[in-house]
Parts: sequence; structure tokens; C-alpha cells
Amino acid sequence: MSSVFHRTAKKNYPLAVRAEGMYIYDQDNRAYLDMSGGAAVSCLGHQHKKVVKALCDQINQMSFAHTAFFSNRPQEELAGRLVEKFNQFGAKAYFTSGGSEANETAIKMVWQYWRAKGLISKQKIISRIHSYHGNTLATLSASGNLPRRRVMGDLLLEWPRIEPCYAYRHQKATESLQEYGLRAANLLEAMILQEGAENIAAFIAEPIVGASLGVVPAAPGYFSRIRQICDQYDILLIADEIMCGTGRTGTFFAHEQEDFIPDIVTLAKGLAGGYQPLAATIASSKVYQVLQESNTGFSHGHTYVGHASACAAGLAVLEVIDEDRLLEKVTQQGNKLQESLQQAFADLDFIGDIRGRGLFRGIEIVADKASKKPFADTKKITAKLHKLTMKHGLICYPGGGSEIDGLGSHILLAPPFIIEDQHIELLIEKLTAIFAELFDE
Ligand SMILES: Cc1ncc(COP(=O)(O)O)c(C=O)c1O
Repeated sequence: MSSVFHRTAKKNYPLAVRAEGMYIYDQDNRAYLDMSGGAAVSCLGHQHKKVVKALCDQINQMSFAHTAFFSNRPQEELAGRLVEKFNQFGAKAYFTSGGSEANETAIKMVWQYWRAKGLISKQKIISRIHSYHGNTLATLSASGNLPRRRVMGDLLLEWPRIEPCYAYRHQKATESLQEYGLRAANLLEAMILQEGAENIAAFIAEPIVGASLGVVPAAPGYFSRIRQICDQYDILLIADEIMCGTGRTGTFFAHEQEDFIPDIVTLAKGLAGGYQPLAATIASSKVYQVLQESNTGFSHGHTYVGHASACAAGLAVLEVIDEDRLLEKVTQQGNKLQESLQQAFADLDFIGDIRGRGLFRGIEIVADKASKKPFADTKKITAKLHKLTMKHGLICYPGGGSEIDGLGSHILLAPPFIIEDQHIELLIEKLTAIFAELFDE
């Protein structure tokens, strides 16, 4: 009997014992095609030789030196590379171990920023309904994801939330995509006016919503209007690129394709590609200067901030992405993936929408295509999909809301950037069999 406090007690997990490229193998040598990198993590696939070597070299030389005492080369070099990509002079990168820590760090940065400016009532974080920014108390408070919030009862901070920009469900037949994007962005202004700008510290959003909605890009113009509103009401803008960043959508940062520059951007998951736990909170010069010049500086920290081996893995991942020109491949293979999914599944009765950007794709499943009505909770579509995909040797990321949350189930795909055509073909084969088993029963 296992002594592990597993994520789900009633589930039997296979033992993952080795991995290579696009595959993970269990104790019985069953292969699982990894089409989601777990949860958008393994961007270079498994056991990439260059990353493994760089990591081993760093561990052999120096695994860890507490950053309260020393800096280290990997974090200096990685910060330099990230800030160069962010392309904002004077920005700084703060390294932690996971996405929740990165967003918690961002929230503390904005709180301390406003305190340093003497505006201490600016505390609330506005987020969007159907969002997920982490599992610490502050980041879950800033998340709209109902199933994850519900179990916490009334322990979370009650912060304002607005509807996400979700054209598939919210665009009216009478408006263009641009008009809808503007209307959706203006919900932020309405919320700020309702709550009082003097009480709002920041707005947080994923440039492309990942697990909470099943890969939903914003309508054109949405984020540039959001940026305008934040500037007008003196509110900081945090781009959560934990899932959609680090090249996943074809540019290094997802916000590059959205025509806005955030005050703070967070990265994790693909940043070290699963070779080490690593996250980054990148603060613009505007935020950094205020924190730096305040009496207390930025008061924060964890034992593993700027961990040398974790940063070495991040640096190696970045080098491979650049040297192998993988962002071009993300766009090219992403388009092929979209076309193949459309061709195979778009006409099926239960497929509502197939969408995304680069190698970040979502398939929304509905009970009724015309009305977009989701399946009832009792159908347990998401849970069944999870079981079936594993049975068919496929790792993807089924998720979704429920009838109560007003959402359909979805499948999130975030395959490694090394994906070849044959993996796309195999995915289509496996999904065809899975859908047949799920819906022909
Ligand atoms: C957009 C987003 N933000 C934050 C997080 C939290 O990251 P972590 O699970 O590494 O704490 C996640 C995790 O899925 C995420 O998708």
C-alpha cells in the first residue's frame, strides 16, 4: 500500500519509470504519447540531451548556494536573457519554484508597490471568472475557477471578478469580434468604477486562458483596451503567462501577439521544461524602481529563490529554444495541429469549438452544437476523458466546468515543441478511438 498522500486518494496511478522525447513509459513499459507536456510543462519533450547535460554539469559544480548570501551564474544569465526578451529596459526577474509562487510574488510586488507610494488602500486584485492563477491563498483568491474555490468555503479573500473575453460563448451575433473585444474589456472599467480605483491594486489575466477555459485567446483589441484602462485608473497589469508563455504560442511571450506590455509578467511550467521546478516574476522597471527605493525594499523570499540548478535548467531550455529556432516550429506545427483537429473533428455533433495559437490548442465539447449547451455534470465527461485518454496511452489535459459553472468540458493540448507530423497523426487516431468509446456507449 502506498504511503503517498496522492492528489486523488481513490485513483490508481501507474508508475512512470522512464521518458524519452514525446513519450513517458510506465512500470509495464506501456508508452504514453505526451500531447500536453503534463500541464504545458515539457516544452522540449523528455530527456533532452543538452538540457540534461547542462543540468548535470551545474549539479556537479554547485547545486545550491542560498541567495541570501550569494548570487549564482545561472540565475544571472537567465535573468539577463529573459529581460532581453521582455525588451523593457531596467526590468528584473525574480526566480521561484512554481507558478503559484510566481503569482504570489507578483501580488506581493503590487501590494508593496502601492504601499511604497503611500496608497495603502489599493489592495484588491481584479481577475476574471473562469481563471486560475495558483493554489496559495492569495493566488486562489485571485482565481475565478469555481471548483477549486468552492472547497475553500469562505476562507479566501473576496475580490472582484469580471467575465473573461470568450467570443465562442459571449460574442453577440450583431457585433464584430473587435466590437466584442472592446465590450469585454470595458467590463474592467465598470468594475473599477464600482469598487473605486483607490481600492484596486492590479488586474491579473492570462493573455490566452489555459486550463480554466480550454485555450481561449482574447478578441483583437481586448488587451490594448485593458492596458488603456489600467493606465487611466492607475492600476497595475499582471500577465499570467505561466502556461501560455515561454514560446508556447509562437512568440516567447504570449502578450507579444496581443499588443500590450504588462507591468509584471509571470512564467513557470515551460520555463525549465519540467527538468527542474522553476518560475519567474518579471517586474518592469516602473515597479522595480519603486520597490527598490522604498524603505524596506521588496520584502519577500523563499529558501529556493534563484536556485542555481533550477536556473541552469531554465537557461539550457532557453538556449535550445533559440538555437534550434523552435518558435518557428511552434507556429508551423501548431497550424498543422489545428488543421488536423479541424479536419478530423470539427463536424462532430459534440465538438463545439477547436481553437488556440501555436502549440496551445483547445477542443470544447458540448451536448448541443447549436445552443452550445454543455453536458450535464452527471455525465462526468471530463473525468471519463481523463480515464479514457490514459487507457489509450495518451496524455492530454481534459478539464472544464460543469453545468453549474456554465461551461463545457474541454481538452487542452500543449505538446512539446519537438512534435513531428507522425505524432499529430497518432493523436488524431487516439482521439478518434476515445471519442467513439465516450459517445457511442
Ligand atoms: C495560468 C496558471 N497560473 C498559475 C498556475 C499555478 O502554477 P503551479 O501549479 O506551478 O503552482 C497554473 C497552473 O496550472 C496556471 O495554469
